[in-house]
Parts: sequence; structure tokens; C-alpha cells
Amino acid sequence: MTKQIQFFDTTLRDGEQTIGVNFNIDEKVKIAKQLEKFGVDVIEAGFPVASKGDFEAVSAVSRAVKSTRVTGLARAKKGDIDACVKATKDATHKQIHVFIATSPIHRESKLHMTREQVIQSIFDSVSYAHQFFDIVEFSPEDATRTEPDFLVQSIQTAIDAGATVINIPDTVGYTNPAEFAQLFQNLRTNIPRFDEVTFSVHCHDDLGMAVANSLASIENGATRIEGTINGIGERAGNAALEEVAAAMYVRKDYYNAESNINLSETKKTSDMISNFSNMPVPHNKAVVGDNAFSHESGIHQDGMLKNPQTYEILTPEVVGAHKTTLPLGKLSGSHAVMAKLQKMGYEVDKDTMKIIFPKFKAVADHTNIVSENDLEYIMQEVNV
Ligand code: KIV
Ligand code: ZN
Repeated sequence: MTKQIQFFDTTLRDGEQTIGVNFNIDEKVKIAKQLEKFGVDVIEAGFPVASKGDFEAVSAVSRAVKSTRVTGLARAKKGDIDACVKATKDATHKQIHVFIATSPIHRESKLHMTREQVIQSIFDSVSYAHQFFDIVEFSPEDATRTEPDFLVQSIQTAIDAGATVINIPDTVGYTNPAEFAQLFQNLRTNIPRFDEVTFSVHCHDDLGMAVANSLASIENGATRIEGTINGIGERAGNAALEEVAAAMYVRKDYYNAESNINLSETKKTSDMISNFSNMPVPHNKAVVGDNAFSHESGIHQDGMLKNPQTYEILTPEVVGAHKTTLPLGKLSGSHAVMAKLQKMGYEVDKDTMKIIFPKFKAVADHTNIVSENDLEYIMQEVNV
């Protein structure tokens, strides 16, 4: 059966935890509206107790979006939960996201709490939050470095207290896809109501595995993916939601999963985040990088001209990006140069290319990309 996957966007919360990124309220509202067009199911608009600005941003986003669910983040503390209640009061659809760390390193070195105290705190905070929200999402922070038995106990406690969404954060991007599969197997075996709960994952990219881990989780029982646009976030960032969505689309044969994501809004959403965060998207970034649909070498350009499917598994139109380009450089072949000249209006054939192509190569050897102007100049020179 086809799985329905929810997308939870935390660009405005975890994404803003990127060093140097600070969206103003106006930008946050614009981003939230664009995320709504992109089709995400939940927007994590901020951490209301953290600052007056965050509180106001969550309130403004709650008023601005209509079809997308809005959440605020709260530690397992009454004051944090109260701030979320107030900040999301005008949201048409809302939920809350409560978290506490469960791994031994966080319990002992950061929280100074015993296992029993953490369990009590989960129960108290989730039951308190459940009085105000129908949907309570609980995250055991650093879940992937938590002892498997204690992870089960923490999650079971949250479910007993009223949580209907359990998010598994790979807080430090430590786990690999095979381990994510094992983690889900353990939860499926030991959580009796596994199928009644929405399981979510929140993967960080410290070892470059955030997207792969998110996709592995879809295969193993997760039906909600958390991440950010362009993968921005703490340290190496979060799972890039546009990459997860594109992988689900291209590999539908494998994941057999659908979502509400409107892929044609991908590039626009990515550009907006890049502008407001002042973080240029790397040229070679999957799906939204400038080079994602550019083909440089002669063999690849020849293949593309014969059948674009030789080297493109996703077309730029699908993600709302600019057209495929075949930039001409020193690795380009005569076939691609001839096609370009014909497009520019020149009547060239295989014989005239024997004169033109050596001139092209001479120019290409001294420049990165041979421009249309360069080609005009070559054509004047050869005079064919
Ligand atoms: O990375 C993390 O663990 C988080 C939690 C608050 C979900 O961002
Ligand atoms: Zn995170």
C-alpha cells in the first residue's frame, strides 16, 4: 500500500540555529507562506519561550498560515508549554513539540537527571501539554545514542501521557541508515501501539547521512520527516526536505510513498531561504544547485542531445528550476557545439564543423565556459 508521508519543516526554528542566520518577523511570515505553498504539513515556527522575538514570530506565523499546522517547541517544562499555548492561540491548525534529552551523556552531563527523573518529567510535561493540544509531539533528544531499553521506556511513557506523534531525533547526526532500520525494528517489537502513533524522524547531517537516514526511516515505519529547506541548521545542518521529497518522487518505484509536497515550488522556496539566510546554495547541491541540471562533458552532452534520460533522472521543470543547460567548455564535443550553433541560427553541418571545431577548442582551452559571444566571434573568423 502507498504510504502517506508528512513533511515537518523546522527552517524557522532549527534552521535559524545556523550560525549567522537571523530571520526577521516579516521574513518568517513570508517563508511560512511559501512553505504552505510548497505543501509542508507542519511548520515549526520557533521556540516561544526562548525570546520575545521568537514568541512574536510564532504568533505571527500562527495568524498568517491557514492550511498548514503550526507548532512551537517546548522543553519538558510548564513555562515552555504555557508560552507555546499562548503563541499558537490563533493558529487554525496547531500542535506542540515537547522534548527532553534521553541519552546517558545528556542525562548525566547536561541535565544532571537520573533515568527515573527523566521519565517523570516526560510524563508530567506531555500530560500537561495534552490538556491544551490534541496533537502532542514528543522528542527524546539524542534518541539515537540512548540505550534501546530506555528509549522504549521514554517513548511508552510519552504515549501513555497522551503523545500521538513520536519524533526520533538523530541530534548529532551519528547514526547510519542500517542502524535506523534496527532502531525502528526495536520500537515496532516493543511498543504495543506502534501502528497507532505517528513516528517521525529528525536527522542532522554531521556525517552527511541526514537525507539517507530520513529515507531509510520511511522504509522502516516513519511517516513524518523533519528537516529544513536547503538543509540549513545547527553545525552541518538538518535533512534537506527538498532532497527527501525529490528522492521520493524519482524513486517512487522503491519507496512507494506520497506526500502533499508541491515539487514545482521547490526552487522558489530554496531561493527564498537562500536570500533571507544569506547562505548561497552550493552550485553542486542536489536538486536546487545551479549545476544540478547542467551537463559539461562531451560524452554527457552527446547523450543528453540524443535522449535527456541518459543523464537526467529529474527534470528541472519538475522542481521549478531553470532549463537544462549544456554549457560549452573544453570537454564539450562537436555534436553539442553544432547543436548550439544551429540554435543560434547558423547553418552548419558535419563538414563545416571540421573547420569550426578546432577554433572552438582553441578558445575553450583558455576559458571556463565558451559564451554565445565567443561563438559569434569564431563564426566571423571562420567565415563559413
Ligand atoms: O536535534 C534535535 O534533537 C532537536 C530537537 C529539539 C528535536 O532539534
Ligand atoms: Zn535538531
